[in-house]
Amino acid sequence: MASALCRRWQLHTPLIQAPMAGGATTPTLVASVSQAGGLGFLAAALLPPERLLSEAAVVRRLTDKPFGINLFVQEDPAPSREALEQALEWLAPLHRELGLPAPQIPERFCEPFARQFEALLEAKPAVASFTFGILNRNQLKLLKQAKIDVIGTATNMAEGLAWAELGADAICAQGREAGGHRGTFIGRPQDSLRPTLSLVYELAQNQPLPVIAAGGIMHGRDIAAAMRHGAQACQLGTAFLRCPESGISALWKSELAKAAPGGTRLTRAFSGRHARGLSNRYMELMADKEDLVPAYPVMNALTGPLRAAAAKAELSDFLSLWAGENVAAGRELPAGQLVATLHEEWLAAYR
Ligand SMILES: Cc1cc2nc3c(=O)[nH]c(=O)nc-3n(C[C@H](O)[C@H](O)[C@H](O)COP(=O)(O)O)c2cc1C
Repeated sequence: MASALCRRWQLHTPLIQAPMAGGATTPTLVASVSQAGGLGFLAAALLPPERLLSEAAVVRRLTDKPFGINLFVQEDPAPSREALEQALEWLAPLHRELGLPAPQIPERFCEPFARQFEALLEAKPAVASFTFGILNRNQLKLLKQAKIDVIGTATNMAEGLAWAELGADAICAQGREAGGHRGTFIGRPQDSLRPTLSLVYELAQNQPLPVIAAGGIMHGRDIAAAMRHGAQACQLGTAFLRCPESGISALWKSELAKAAPGGTRLTRAFSGRHARGLSNRYMELMADKEDLVPAYPVMNALTGPLRAAAAKAELSDFLSLWAGENVAAGRELPAGQLVATLHEEWLAAYR
């Protein structure tokens, strides 16, 4: 039942552990998944180039199996002074509530993509994936020359066609259920919320690249369903968040363990880009402003100190607790065991 993608990336199970920026995808998690026969993925979008290289080196020390590295395709933003000041004004009362100094404009809003991209070429993982945007032809050529396979994230048909036209190797179809940020870069995120299976089917039918299903996949039978809809592999994020190897805080893990069905929602308020996470007080407080806050990565940088302070105070009210719609089906298992369990469940779904 191995797909062409599985053979290419030496996967025993058609399973990719989603890159998850913000600490979850530690080198140990990535290596454990690859070692167990899935494809581990380092999230490097928030890492300075040197950290990208050092984390990739740690993964290599732990496993000789293929793994991937993920980046956000982004440009340095140039927000207006008024937009920044307005956002700081909205955040000020929350800072006061946590006993923090007034919010400030940070020195920079994100890591420089061009330098991260150079580090990625140097790290030379088997696979690289991208979200939030699309590469240019020269960047794709450089990845091909380095023999790094390219996965482009698509949340709608137009984005899938754009990656296919560019010459990527696979498309990650990110359905509505997915935890974390929406990858949308053509059209509005609100209009790109097809359920995973239907998006996978449409992309698999209408463009030539292999499709990877992402969003709401928590059990082996979900993998089987996605494969029946035309996927060649599945990318699971939320399912790995509670693994002991995942680097998120104990508080985030315990909130995930308590989550009920329907406990997530999309918000733009934390980062300026739509993302799915556990509903909390910050989302409610900012609900009427979320469409007005500056776009990613600016708002993400502005809320950084608030989120860091909330993490320190173990206060989930102000944390971005990213999680997918099917979070309630999550399990707390070591990563290798989770991969093996998903593999067994996937096979059982065909019996
Ligand atoms: C905590 C978290 C962080 C994420 N960070 C990234 C990221 O850095 N890059 C990326 O391409 N996708 C990221 N995603 C989205 C995943 O790639 C994937 O689309 C999603 O996890 C699939 O849905 P699921 O969480 O229901 O499995 C993240 C998801 C979560 C839950």
